[in-house]
Amino acid sequence: MIETIALVLLVVNMLAFAVLWSRDQNLLYAVLSMSLLVLFGMTVVREFTPEWRGYQKRFIQLQIEKETDPEIIDSLKSTPIKILQTWNKELGIADRCITCHQAVDNPAFKDAEEPFRYHAAAREHEFGKFGCTICHQGQGRGTDALNAHAQEIMHWELPMWEPDMVQASCPKCHERIYEPGYSLKGAERLMEARDIIGGKNEMEMACIDCHTIRGVGETLAPDLSEYGAKTEHEFALTHDMTYVEGEKNKFNWTYQHFLDPLKISPGNEETGVEPTIMPNFELTAEQAHNLTLFVFSLEESLIPAKYQYREFQPEGKTEPSFIKEFEESFENLESLPEGQQLFIKSKCWFCHTISGQGGKVGPNLTKVGTRRDKASILKHFETVEENKEHPMANRFHFSDEELDALSEYLASLK
Ligand code: HEC
Ligand code: HEC
Ligand code: HEC
Ligand code: HEC
Ligand code: HEC
Repeated sequence: MIETIALVLLVVNMLAFAVLWSRDQNLLYAVLSMSLLVLFGMTVVREFTPEWRGYQKRFIQLQIEKETDPEIIDSLKSTPIKILQTWNKELGIADRCITCHQAVDNPAFKDAEEPFRYHAAAREHEFGKFGCTICHQGQGRGTDALNAHAQEIMHWELPMWEPDMVQASCPKCHERIYEPGYSLKGAERLMEARDIIGGKNEMEMACIDCHTIRGVGETLAPDLSEYGAKTEHEFALTHDMTYVEGEKNKFNWTYQHFLDPLKISPGNEETGVEPTIMPNFELTAEQAHNLTLFVFSLEESLIPAKYQYREFQPEGKTEPSFIKEFEESFENLESLPEGQQLFIKSKCWFCHTISGQGGKVGPNLTKVGTRRDKASILKHFETVEENKEHPMANRFHFSDEELDALSEYLASLK
């Protein structure tokens, strides 16, 4: 609405300029300053009537309609109108979605229209702790629907999932969902895809006969382990979109490729690209959709261990051979950078994962270099003695040179 007025004003201005320049320059001055004033007024109006205010007022109204107790009605009437958010430093979220989606925790709004509907799904989770974008993606800080959902703006790398893609987020915290036979309520699409991938399909063929998935499988076809991490932009640079119908994006390429691999990757004689050998699994639309969801879920989780789902697991025997095996998995241990050798030999990996290998007691360090620079990591070690939180406090006895090497190595992980 405001955009339209602004556009009309701009056109009027240009016309006035064209006509009045040669005739009456005083009138021209008046027209231009008038329209500046109007534009200024419009920005003020806009500032004071943001979209979310309307939703909050409407929500108060809806609550009042459901209420009979006059006292509660009075207190509802004086509800402050303000931006609401869930903030969690450890998860790196500042989600303002509840500024509009105010009824997520209110079962009385079970059948209401969005954005006022009660959130019946995923109730096992405390939204006050996890926020929303952890499952839905989108731009948590946005306070208008366009920016918050971020589905139509190009610069945001994690546009909000369509509801039927939300399950792609579950494995971030429920890694066991990838194990055959493991069951998780609410993750039915993922489970169906997992079974197809394991070989329950028309061809009775497992995808890992050709692909590597999460570190396991063959190398006849691209490694899918980090398929979910590829941004639209990276994807477009490495994939031929010629045969994709509709909008040419990662989702459509992947989905249509599942329905008919040869149609999307028929090869190209000029560039010498061979037609794909990926079989047509004769999938239904639903199955292709679920497989797309599955491959989009594939990426390393950066969620701190304490927020991941952990079941009770009986303590396994910790044989010393397990340590040796880990060390031997690095063929050329002695030729690795000193910091990396220290990391392996000091068994930091008991508690920290790097690139998929290691434990989960401490934070995942795969990309620690993007969060902390060398100086900050050094400081971490220097203060580890007083840092009662770090379970290894008092047990590290590194020299200054060794600390330097460790920090150098960790800071390089980006
Ligand atoms: C300015 C208010 C506003 C904010 C902020 C907002 N939403 Fe919405 N949301 C809406 C409205 C209105 C709808 C219903 C109309 C629509 O689908 O756009 C909606 C719909 C949705 C839907 C259903 C979409 C569908 O296709 O069925 C989801 C999921 C959702 N929002 C999630 C979020 C998340 C996650 C955030 C925070 C990143 C968020 N919203 C922030 C107003 C908002
Ligand atoms: C633990 C994961 C998780 C969290 C956290 C979460 N949601 Fe959802 N949300 C889901 C799932 C799963 C669905 C159901 C999608 C489907 O299959 O239709 C859903 C559905 C929705 C819908 C309805 C879309 C539709 O039409 O089905 C809205 C709106 C929504 N969520 C908003 C939010 C908001 C706002 C928050 C934060 C307060 C939030 N969600 C937090 C997982 C989550
Ligand atoms: C940010 C991490 C996170 C994400 C993402 C997440 N969960 Fe969870 N989930 C948890 C944690 C932690 C628990 C244990 C309850 C708690 O502490 O809140 C849990 C509990 C559950 C439970 C109850 C299990 C039980 O044994 O009681 C189910 C079911 C579940 N989640 C399903 C899902 C589904 C489906 C999704 C994807 C839509 C999902 N979760 C996404 C962290 C997560
Ligand atoms: C006979 C070998 C073979 C089998 C079996 C196979 N694929 Fe493929 N797949 C390929 C080849 C080769 C490519 C690369 C050429 C192309 O199709 O674009 C590919 C491409 C892909 C891509 C796009 C990868 C990228 O980075 O561009 C995805 C996703 C995919 N396959 C998933 C699957 C899934 C899921 C299954 C099991 C249901 C499967 N594939 C079974 C051979 C196979
Ligand atoms: C017994 C488990 C355990 C071991 C072993 C361990 N850590 Fe930690 N580490 C943790 C925990 C828990 C935290 C989070 C608490 C904190 O910051 O002090 C942490 C935090 C860190 C951080 C800060 C991470 C961040 O995301 O900011 C770094 C860096 C680190 N450890 C490096 C190391 C190195 C190097 C070693 C080996 C010399 C090591 N850790 C051994 C458990 C461990």
